[in-house]
Amino acid sequence: MKNFIFTNPTKLIFGKDSIARITNFLPKDAIILLTYGGGSIMKNGIYDQVMEQLKGFKVVPFGGIEANPDIVTLKKAIELGRKEKINFILAVGGGSVIDGSKLIAIAIPSTTPAWDIVKTGKFEGAIPFGTVLTVPATGSEMNSGAVISNRETKEKFGFYGTFPLFSVMDPTYAYTLSKHQISCGIADAFMHVCEQYLTYPDQSGVMDRMSEGILLNLIDISKSQDKLAEHDYDTFCEYMLSATIALNGFLSMGTAQDWLAHMIGHEITALTGITHGASLAMVYPSVLRVMRPHKEGKILQYAKRVWGIEGDNTDEIVTKAISKTEEFFRSLGLAANMAEGKVDQSVADEIIRRMEERGHKYGEGRIASVEEVKVILKDSLSQK
Ligand code: NZQ
Ligand code: ZN
Repeated sequence: MKNFIFTNPTKLIFGKDSIARITNFLPKDAIILLTYGGGSIMKNGIYDQVMEQLKGFKVVPFGGIEANPDIVTLKKAIELGRKEKINFILAVGGGSVIDGSKLIAIAIPSTTPAWDIVKTGKFEGAIPFGTVLTVPATGSEMNSGAVISNRETKEKFGFYGTFPLFSVMDPTYAYTLSKHQISCGIADAFMHVCEQYLTYPDQSGVMDRMSEGILLNLIDISKSQDKLAEHDYDTFCEYMLSATIALNGFLSMGTAQDWLAHMIGHEITALTGITHGASLAMVYPSVLRVMRPHKEGKILQYAKRVWGIEGDNTDEIVTKAISKTEEFFRSLGLAANMAEGKVDQSVADEIIRRMEERGHKYGEGRIASVEEVKVILKDSLSQK
């Protein structure tokens, strides 16, 4: 196990009707910028529930933060926050609203332009913020990451920003998500575990067993479509908490991390608008096929412990594990390759052009360069 320093300061306020506790966690003198998305919280009543609790506080609402939050919208929120002298942000929404709010919280007290903060990850401080989660998927409610889009340049970049002070997590708030949104959330959480787990074997028994537990739980949830459809509370609790633990740092202590599929997936979303979780599902099987020589040892462990695949023939077991991963994504109604997802060659060409220009290396131990990415994209586009 590698040396590590771990911290996660976010308080979770979890369970049905938890919104009633929110004022216990807000600074008494809070002037609140209440950030939200395109209107789902108006339709499902969450906005009213939150506002009811905030009586007595000065609240400045800012709506319209889009899925894959755009820098132009966020700059308007930053201006408003400065003008209104807000000293707390409450993000009510999914990963997009929460990520956007992290940038708003950092940019308000900063002299650095917001897009420069995204591109450099450098900043001085941040005003405090909390969240009310409505989409279990990204883990943004309990991590410091933020992924911000720039529609003008068709770019999308992530950076490490600031942790929420608290997150209110009421699983019933996810009841109004569509089946496709839930599928994308499950796929995203599954991929977060894979990006931290499916690297090299023998790094940490405790991280491996915890990761395998979350993967198995997400597979169980994916098989509980009837329970999701009938809004079974406990199934939604499992879904919400699994997605948080998948990316709150608990699974990557002292271990190597991959994130290659996310790097490619973010480019696909930036260029096509495809939902984040769906972009990952259409790339990851090809990542596993192409990076197989490096990942074989861990894929074997994944095959055995997560999918229960037995046998002596390494080649067969690894191939079966990759097929199981594809079946899992398809069982969620997601495409398991770019051809199936109707992404065309021009998207792959632009991803390659960008990655050549940047010259970065990706994956655990930086094992993948743009040459591997080319093979991954070719593999994904040529699947039948
Ligand atoms: O905008 P509204 O009208 O609210 O609609 C949203 C949005 O269209 C809707 N929605 C949210 N809550 C709902 C609901 N619809 C019905 N019922 C509800 N309860 O759902 C749509 C998608 O929301 P979004 O916030 O975009 O989803 P998600 O949580 O998947 O976030 C995706 C963003 O997070 C980034 C992604 O790249 C993407 O930009 N990620 C953030 C990460 C992080 N901070 O650590 C890691 C991830 O890998 C990911 O990159
Ligand atoms: Zn993700």
